[in-house]
Amino acid sequence: MEVVYLNGQFLPKDQALISPDDRGFLFGDSVYEVARWYGGYFFDLPGHTGRFRRSMKETNMVWKDEAKLEEIFEELIERNGLGADCAIVYFQATRGVAPRNHAFPDPPVKPTIYGFARRHNINTLAAERGVAIWLTPDPRWNRCDIKTTALIANVLPYQEAHDQGFAEVCFVRNGFVTEGAHSNIFFVRNEALYTHPENNDILSGITRKNIISVARANDVSVVEEAVATDMIPYMNEAFICNTTGEIVPVTRISDQVIGDGNPGHLTRKLQVLLREFIQSCDPHR
Ligand code: PDD
Repeated sequence: MEVVYLNGQFLPKDQALISPDDRGFLFGDSVYEVARWYGGYFFDLPGHTGRFRRSMKETNMVWKDEAKLEEIFEELIERNGLGADCAIVYFQATRGVAPRNHAFPDPPVKPTIYGFARRHNINTLAAERGVAIWLTPDPRWNRCDIKTTALIANVLPYQEAHDQGFAEVCFVRNGFVTEGAHSNIFFVRNEALYTHPENNDILSGITRKNIISVARANDVSVVEEAVATDMIPYMNEAFICNTTGEIVPVTRISDQVIGDGNPGHLTRKLQVLLREFIQSCDPHR
């Protein structure tokens, strides 16, 4: 039986009940995080919990048990018997339960806090062969730096891409590629990496940050500059990255083939370097 965390308790999932007056349900007034467990340890848990705390702060949500966050992530793994597996933990906070009204509940109510863990293995076929992604205008708001569960503007274009056989959709804002519906994107040109700078137009991906530091530590030059869509034909390589998939080579963007249509050599090198770095974080080694 799957055990979840809800508002201070660990309980079987079928006993986890949330009010229809929850602001997460009524307004998408909620934030979330997802971290990856590598059969014995979380990769960059401080990165994920730090971003969760930032999302809470940016949306004026206060949770009195915030200090227990890391402990709850660990306990979700343990209580679900996932210790030796690869898994992911999702953790969500909403502004809580109150009759529908745009204004924050006054006096404030407790946030609704929900977490679950599930087994997760990487899509090795995609990581090996690469994928095609689709480009479309970015329909999202201008606070993409907040990891909110209000994801309809990500879900709709993703579904459109998915229906056409694409593995991800990437967004274009003012002529520049921002990020994917659930990933960040990197390009390679003349052996240098290009990725959108950290600002309100993208989520600051934990994988993105770790790739940047691993690349720099291995003398790969990284330019945090957005790539204009009309430069895509001149890019030698591209890849998307996130917590659930690590690095996935991109071999085609809409109908533009990237490089020779195969995963690029720098992409391959970074896949190995990132994996080695993740393994080096195993405290039991
Ligand atoms: N999504 N950009 C967006 C919009 C995302 O939703 C994600 C991750 C990323 C990559 O961030 P990170 O490297 O920290 O996973 C970028 C996760 C996987 C999700 O929503 O399931």
